[in-house]
Amino acid sequence: MYRHVQGTGSYDARILLVGEAPGREEDRLGYPFAGQSGYKLNSWWFENGLTREMFRIENVYEYRPNEQNDITKVPLEVLEEWSRYLHERITKFRNLWLIVPVGNVALRSLMRTPLDGHDVSITKYRGSIMRYVANDGREIKMIPTIHPASIFHQKAK
Ligand code: URA
Repeated sequence: MYRHVQGTGSYDARILLVGEAPGREEDRLGYPFAGQSGYKLNSWWFENGLTREMFRIENVYEYRPNEQNDITKVPLEVLEEWSRYLHERITKFRNLWLIVPVGNVALRSLMRTPLDGHDVSITKYRGSIMRYVANDGREIKMIPTIHPASIFHQKAK
């Protein structure tokens, strides 16, 4: 049984980072981006004068999906439910200026496109300046980026 790994950081944060799902270390330690992907993020932040405390951090799905950390194996209707819940959570963050989705599922969730729709991919949209429309009508700048874990597999990124 995996544990429920909820978002961290201030509700008043100006930047929201949205990942896909916790992995092994996140399940062990109980907070998002606690493992290798988190180390990578820390180094990117450090290089740019940012720290974790400046972010609210959420995942679309708040449980480790399976031993392979493969979110594509989670039934689509379950993911859709979590995606709707993510939009609800975002309405509580009143000071958002920027949202950064990492990975395909986070991007599709925030673009409100089909979560398994391959025409929307992070490699296509990374670095684009986009607009997220919240449930309450607020429009918030969104700049997707590749998932830090993908760098471990493809150094060219
Ligand atoms: N990858 C994610 O998308 N989220 C985490 O919390 C950790 C790794």
